[in-house]
Amino acid sequence: MADEVDALSSGRDRLPRHVAIVMDGNGRWAQQRGLPRTMGHREGAKAVRRVVEACAARGVEALTLFAFSSENWRRPRPEVEILMNLFVRTLRSEIRRLDAANVRMRFIGDSGAFSPTLQDYMAKAEQRTSGNTGLTLVIAANYGGRWDVAQAARQVAEEVAAGRLQPADVTPETFHRYTCLADLPEPDLFIRTGGEQRISNFLLWQLAYTELYFSERLWPDFTADDLDVACSAFASRQRRFGQTSEQVACGAQDDHA
Ligand code: IPE
Ligand code: IPE
Ligand code: MG
Repeated sequence: MADEVDALSSGRDRLPRHVAIVMDGNGRWAQQRGLPRTMGHREGAKAVRRVVEACAARGVEALTLFAFSSENWRRPRPEVEILMNLFVRTLRSEIRRLDAANVRMRFIGDSGAFSPTLQDYMAKAEQRTSGNTGLTLVIAANYGGRWDVAQAARQVAEEVAAGRLQPADVTPETFHRYTCLADLPEPDLFIRTGGEQRISNFLLWQLAYTELYFSERLWPDFTADDLDVACSAFASRQRRFGQTSEQVACGAQDDHA
């Protein structure tokens, strides 16, 4: 709620504090060039670097990237294997640069399904960068919005079973604390590249009041300029959080709170 009041009162010309991106279109990018889909993933990793640098340079606080959904295991096995190898290689090659750029890395998702090697790199990347104070970079890997809600519900159920929480205490605010990203500002801007207009089981709980932006650009082609265009579109929108536009224009606070 504090975030919402902040977003309302600070006017429209602000940078999103938290950007969440569905990086889609790698396969089509490659297919358009007569290349194997996996070349698109490789090129997509370069776009990740560009966008991370651009977000850090602009002062965005948090960037959450959808790297692998809980449904992406359904892809052909060779593609999944190449993606896993690419994650390991990218983490290994980028971690030093990210750390030097004061980026704090986090992973969300059910990481237990990954190879021990990959889990080890993920844990080491988090540990190494945990004290950094610049951009928080969240990688959603084997993540699903429904999984997130279910794991939060499981934790809440355990608290209730242990007598530490009463069923009547389970409000949106308490539930929120058990969902992924609860310690970060809620996503202000959702971007999906690749032309599809769907959420594909990305953040469900967290997107309640996020501004949605869809780009035709395929992810490997996405540049810092494209990010700026998306941020300008965000800045031109009036976020009302249920209020009327007149209330927002005169900076009314939330009477209901
Ligand atoms: C997104 O690009 C990357 C992952 C899902 C890992 P796609 O691989 O989905 O690319 P398209 O949508 O097939 O073009
Ligand atoms: C969403 O893209 C997942 C990621 C970008 C990691 P998909 O390509 O998997 O989504 P669908 O299958 O088109 O909905
Ligand atoms: Mg896709």
